[in-house]
Amino acid sequence: MKRTLVIGATGNVGRQVVSQLIAAQVGVRALTRNPESARLPDQVEVVGGDLTMPDTLDRSLQDVDALFLVWVAPRTAVAPAIARLAKYVGRVVLLSAPYRTPHPFFQQPNPGATLLAEIEGTIENSGMQWTFLRPGMFAANAKGWWAPQIRAGDVVRWPYADVPTAPIDERDIAAVAVRVLCEEGHGGKDYVLTGPESLSQLEQVRIIGEAIGRSLRYQEMSPDEARRELLPPMTLPIIDMLLNAWAAAIGQPAFVTSSVAEITGTPARTFRDWVIDHAAEFTRA
Ligand SMILES: NC(=O)c1ccc[n+]([C@@H]2O[C@H](COP(=O)([O-])OP(=O)(O)OC[C@H]3O[C@@H](n4cnc5c(N)ncnc54)[C@H](OP(=O)(O)O)[C@@H]3O)[C@@H](O)[C@H]2O)c1
Repeated sequence: MKRTLVIGATGNVGRQVVSQLIAAQVGVRALTRNPESARLPDQVEVVGGDLTMPDTLDRSLQDVDALFLVWVAPRTAVAPAIARLAKYVGRVVLLSAPYRTPHPFFQQPNPGATLLAEIEGTIENSGMQWTFLRPGMFAANAKGWWAPQIRAGDVVRWPYADVPTAPIDERDIAAVAVRVLCEEGHGGKDYVLTGPESLSQLEQVRIIGEAIGRSLRYQEMSPDEARRELLPPMTLPIIDMLLNAWAAAIGQPAFVTSSVAEITGTPARTFRDWVIDHAAEFTRA
């Protein structure tokens, strides 16, 4: 039987990959550090394991044809974990980022991109057949960034109102991943994935307001205020990485590709589609 292992199965993208693999009638195994709280569909074989402890990976890797890999673990774990994965699996699809794309948004200092480059290099030398997915900004960021403020009132305090991005729906990243995992012909390729349109952050907040029937006000904060006010839940390196990217991207449209439509045969969902399907995140008590 064909079986795919999803590492990162409880996250934004991995959950969608799991449900779309099930719909495609592919056997799914999911690795998680906490099987008891994973809340995955009944059809999924849930296995405990941790990328930072390679010995815990063996059980999840038995009889697996392909692997979808989301990496959010520390750098020190990269070489030992990937060596262990490559011992069992012939084919990997990595969730990476568009750090090679020559648009200023993607060309700023970014420790996350440095880590992803190291992971890619390790995978390229591992003997596994690989495909790298390079999505830009996730639409799902709106949940963490703006939903708490919108649930609490009508003002969104955020920097760089006018900076455009092309938010991508995590279901579209997953749709590409499932094609790449299930079809031949994607080995050694990388795909830059974006949403279908360039929208300023102000326009994105306006779209959320229209979808939930409220008039939201965007109150621009300075970069210094962002460094103070967005901590926590964000960390300073992540805030600085975002501020640098936004500052560099002012005054030009976001980078937009048609890769989702080309690979899946279906146009990428709009940010409005994403918001309508996640309206409850912005309204529930
Ligand atoms: N947000 C963006 O705009 C954006 C854009 C481009 C690329 N990316 C990339 O997307 C990735 C994040 O994807 P996401 O948002 O879907 O992830 P996420 O929602 O943050 O979920 C992280 C997943 O990683 C798993 N995980 C964490 N540490 C682990 C470990 N030590 N061993 C095994 N599994 C572990 C978690 O599983 P358990 O907790 O169940 O163990 C969880 O399923 C990052 O690599 C980021 O660089 C993000």
